[in-house]
Amino acid sequence: MRTINVELGNRSYPIVIKRGLLDEVGPRIASLGLKGKAAIITNPLVGGLYAQRLTKTLKDAGLNPVIITVPDGEEYKSLQEASSIFDGLIEHRMERSNPIIALGGGVIGDMAGFIAATYLRGVPYIQVPTTLLSQVDSSVGGKTAVNHPKGKNLIGAFYQPKAVFIDPDVLETLEPREVRAGLAEIIKYGVIWDEPFFKFLENNTDSLLSRKDELIDAIEKSCSIKAEVVGSDETEQGIRAILNFGHTFGHAIEALSGYGKYKHGEAVAIGMVMASELSESLGLSGRQTTERIKALVTALDLPADPPKLSADQWIGSMLLDKKVSGSRMRFVLAEHIGKVIIKEVSEEELRKYFDSKAIK
Ligand code: NAD
Ligand code: GLY
Repeated sequence: MRTINVELGNRSYPIVIKRGLLDEVGPRIASLGLKGKAAIITNPLVGGLYAQRLTKTLKDAGLNPVIITVPDGEEYKSLQEASSIFDGLIEHRMERSNPIIALGGGVIGDMAGFIAATYLRGVPYIQVPTTLLSQVDSSVGGKTAVNHPKGKNLIGAFYQPKAVFIDPDVLETLEPREVRAGLAEIIKYGVIWDEPFFKFLENNTDSLLSRKDELIDAIEKSCSIKAEVVGSDETEQGIRAILNFGHTFGHAIEALSGYGKYKHGEAVAIGMVMASELSESLGLSGRQTTERIKALVTALDLPADPPKLSADQWIGSMLLDKKVSGSRMRFVLAEHIGKVIIKEVSEEELRKYFDSKAIK
């Protein structure tokens, strides 16, 4: 078992990582002083697999669980679906001291966090992430949101959970493609923060893909890096932006190819390679950095090559990204593995990079 703290003063919270932890969530929630009703928000797939075990441990600890199920899919991370969850919470007469428990991947976690931030002006919530991506990224750090038809995650709040309980055993039922998508975010932590960790990933690609113990080590390391970054910049005024390495290109890929073609992690994998190439084209890093990122991405069965889009399409989409201010595009760029910088890049510089890739 490993416990990592996200240090945020009186809003600090633990991330607990342990095989079989799902069956211990009840007493752990009770020991946080939370009692009475507890609303589990989940979807039919994850709920079908794990809600019974969660319900049992909650009941055994004296809590009174209710289950609210939303349909599975990014398209249901919406205000409309949030509204029906609010209906459920009101029907169950959930009070301000009663916790919400997110049981699912990033879609459920982001939406349950948003509900917790706003229902009765804020109720406690617990993350029980069940995808690799949510275990290493979305469950930690308090970014909560629902989507708007005009864009992803446009409506939300920074609102931290009371605890994150990660049971790596639940990954056994995850589709291999979802595992690979989560591995992309794990690679990200190596590039932005920790060269030895990147090397560990390079040396253990088969074990990671087959979900051996090395994957648990990687989850722990990823959470500890994210906890450190979030602890020093909760609301992304500065350093937290490095967690977006590969995401500016990645978001453009997701938007331009139609949401759903690429998984978020797959788009980020390509985006990391492109961000490294851009850095190289600006003279900030050497070829070897890109080659290592590309080789690791490929070894983990993730896509590395961008879809065929024109320079105008890329740039047009990037200018719509919510992290762009005015027409200046800010990129997280790798200087070398383990060290990134945040830099504004002009449209001209970006076009030069696309030219070098024969993207017209
Ligand atoms: P997801 O929540 O859609 O889950 C992917 C699929 O796996 C779903 O079909 C889900 O039902 C299924 N699933 C979940 N756990 C399972 C299990 N243990 N066994 C079998 N199937 C399981 O996708 P995701 O990749 O976890 O999350 C993507 C979301 O996360 C996006 O909405 C993205 O915006 C958000 N996100 C948020 C942050 C943040 O900081 N808040 C960071 C990254 C991504
Ligand atoms: N996933 C990026 C962040 O949490 O800031």
